[in-house]
Amino acid sequence: MRISVIGTGYVGLVSGVGFASVGHDVLCVDIDEEKVEMINRGEPPIYEKGLEELLGVLVTSGKLKATTDTARAVVKTDITFICVGTPSGEDGGQDLSYIEKAAEDVAEALAKKDDYHVVCVKSTVKPGTTDGLVLRALESSGKKVGDDFGLAMNPEFLREGIALKDFMEPDRVVIGALDKRSMEILAEVYKEFPAPKVYTDLRTAEMIKYVSNALLATKISFANEVSRICEETGIDVYDVMGGVGLDHRINRDFLNAGCGFGGSCFPKDVKALVKYAHELGMSSHLLDAVLEVNEEQPVHVIDMLERNMGSLEDKKVTVLGLAFKGGTDDIRETRALPMVKELVKRGSEVVGYDPEAMKNFSFVVDYIDYAGDLEEALEGADACIIQNDWQEFKELTSDDFAVMKNKIVLDGRRLLDPSKLDGVTYLGVGL
Ligand code: UDX
Repeated sequence: MRISVIGTGYVGLVSGVGFASVGHDVLCVDIDEEKVEMINRGEPPIYEKGLEELLGVLVTSGKLKATTDTARAVVKTDITFICVGTPSGEDGGQDLSYIEKAAEDVAEALAKKDDYHVVCVKSTVKPGTTDGLVLRALESSGKKVGDDFGLAMNPEFLREGIALKDFMEPDRVVIGALDKRSMEILAEVYKEFPAPKVYTDLRTAEMIKYVSNALLATKISFANEVSRICEETGIDVYDVMGGVGLDHRINRDFLNAGCGFGGSCFPKDVKALVKYAHELGMSSHLLDAVLEVNEEQPVHVIDMLERNMGSLEDKKVTVLGLAFKGGTDDIRETRALPMVKELVKRGSEVVGYDPEAMKNFSFVVDYIDYAGDLEEALEGADACIIQNDWQEFKELTSDDFAVMKNKIVLDGRRLLDPSKLDGVTYLGVGL
């Protein structure tokens, strides 16, 4: 099929590359000319494992191209996926202005197109957006939904860092559609994907995405709350979750206590679901608590450090891991930010280090020092905090910590085995 994808962020670009790699012809659209030129040279504007290699092959073979011209992309394809951002508005609700603009641009093109076209929303949107705001914008083309164009909603469940793998081997593909014809076209798009398909209506598809993320975030905040109880009782939360997670009704995934959840999805989607509940006149006690625990957790980690080493004033504290998790340069909602702010507030000299995210983090935080490598980061430090789960942090040994002034290591992601560390004061979340 001929597919156009609007928005070449994490979701759009990975989806475009994924669709092209199963044989579809893909045209990616972005308003940013620089990004479009990069993609056409085979260079992904974002860091994602395996993306550069695959993009290079697909651009060379002509299966994937990029353009700034939405109208051309819509006219030349059978289906358009809208993959633009839906950031949090000031009130925690969704800012749908990029979605609206994309739908209006598609509508302009639809007005000039004679053959049938499907428009599919992939961005995370609150229930009622696709058959509300998006449909209204598309109908401004003068074309009739059902006859001239189809409408679908197909949420993504991609984890950054392994987004390509998640795209190619999904647990399930959720296809919400307005009518049978749109659904059949989506089924054709995903024909090569061996995952179970969930065929449903537009609003249910929108809600499945929200609820999946809210439940995953709930598991993490639950683990973090339990971890604080464990810390007071001499029980290791990781042993507890190991036992709990063997129950197949619960499952061990996403029960790792840490510094809290970050990223472009969990905080934003939980807040948006809370806002949606309030709009409907409903309460959101559980989701409010999920967010509250998540706000508290980075401060709790700093408290833990202070309890163990005394005042943090004038102490050199190294934060290892600035991205919201390992394997990415993405710093959106990273827990490193509240941690760094809290350390600075308590008078520490902070040194930050991350294999990929230092540049992005330094745009937001220009008042700490950054280290060129791990050794430089640890050199002379009074303490270090491991904030995310990069592989190179998992491989740290006593030798690496030997350059510290005081070898206090707070493992915020429980990556290290303390029994293998000599001469190090090891503190672990939930331990
Ligand atoms: C998430 C969802 O997993 C994905 O399905 C959705 O489409 C987008 O949001 P992502 O944001 O890439 O993906 O990150 P993920 O790997 O899910 O981790 C989210 C956050 O939770 C990270 O900050 C991570 O460190 C934290 N986390 C995750 C924990 O603290 N404990 C866990 O057990 C798992």
